[in-house]
Amino acid sequence: MKLLVTGGAGFIGSNFVHRTLAKHPEWKLVVLDKLTYAGNLKNLEPELGEGRCEFVQMDICDRAVLDPLRGCDAVIHFAAESHVDRSIEDASAFVRTNVDGTYNLLQACREAGVPRLVHVSTDEVYGSLGDEGLFSEESPLQPNSPYAATKAASDLGVLAYVHTHKLPALVTRCSNNYGPYQFPEKFIPLMIAQAMAGERLPVYGKGSNVRDWVHVDDHCAALDVVLQQGREGEVYNIGGGCEMRNLEVAKLILKALGKSESLIQFVTDRPGHDLRYAINCEKLGREFGWQPQVQFDQGLADTIAWYRDNQQWLNDVRSGQYRDYFQKHYVQREKTFAQ
Ligand code: NAD
Ligand code: DAU
Repeated sequence: MKLLVTGGAGFIGSNFVHRTLAKHPEWKLVVLDKLTYAGNLKNLEPELGEGRCEFVQMDICDRAVLDPLRGCDAVIHFAAESHVDRSIEDASAFVRTNVDGTYNLLQACREAGVPRLVHVSTDEVYGSLGDEGLFSEESPLQPNSPYAATKAASDLGVLAYVHTHKLPALVTRCSNNYGPYQFPEKFIPLMIAQAMAGERLPVYGKGSNVRDWVHVDDHCAALDVVLQQGREGEVYNIGGGCEMRNLEVAKLILKALGKSESLIQFVTDRPGHDLRYAINCEKLGREFGWQPQVQFDQGLADTIAWYRDNQQWLNDVRSGQYRDYFQKHYVQREKTFAQ
């Protein structure tokens, strides 16, 4: 198997690369990544020198993407702009990468005759739930954020290529991931980093929004199954069955690090903030026997330990390009804190 991994230098992509190289010693991987602010070659450091993992720095919007696709047995497509808050500030990169880039990739997969494409999507395409119910694969697409709208557009593009051009592709929709190598703009690593530094934890609104957390290893295991056995043209939901309010998660992190809850600061809510996500992934269990394995308590403890043990990784990220973004957003928030 020669597998091309778009976005493999990001959070989930790099975890997928580590797991796949260990799990499938006979497979070769090509990681294709533009290395935006979210891509970090350090995430792939142990493997990059190894003969089974090649790296190509390329934008999925580039027509030249056709070249590395030739001769590949499969493509798994992670590359995307992924942070909701950034999409609220400026959606242009989201439209470009998530919509145009995915279409460019679809066209190139067709031309190269790629036998299999897994498109990695999100439960956010379903919109927001009230206090009851779960998203199933049949739930209507009602994306609320610009990020989610661009992911929904790319999902529909993939399914249209399956229908129209018989492209051998399928779509997965997963809930919120956590684990090692997650960029510390996302909720869990941000809370861990702030707590470790003894700085305030910015919780939006009242902290009552609910997310369904799944450990990144469980997501990657599900993707491995779907890559090998998933049916073309199908959508597969992936979730952790672990609904938590944001405030509860922030408190658990503070407790694990022995820090005071007084570090929590309630800040202005995200505009259009989705209230609750919860996902029904019975289809994946029924068809392939996949179930999440990592309990949230253990997964969170391991994740906190990883950030503690990889302080240098965190410092590098926080002092790099991220810093400008961090300054811009969090200095602004400091003013809110002070009021
Ligand atoms: P991430 O932001 O950590 O990584 C994205 C990667 O894509 C980075 O390495 C970046 O450099 C690369 N990239 C961005 N634009 C590119 C372009 N134009 N060309 C080539 N590479 C480009 O994202 P993540 O959290 O690892 O998410 C990966 C995928 O999984 C995304 O498609 C996201 O929508 C989806 N997803 C994420 C979650 C989650 O909780 N993080 C949950 C469900 C689905
Ligand atoms: O559901 C899957 C999605 O999960 C993925 O498709 C996205 O790529 C991923 O970013 C994530 O989206 P969310 O918006 O749910 O994740 P985020 O980590 O940004 O926020 C999680 C919750 O925490 C959300 O309710 C907003 C809240 N939050 C977030 C930040 C960054 C805060 O309260 N404070 C913060 O500073």
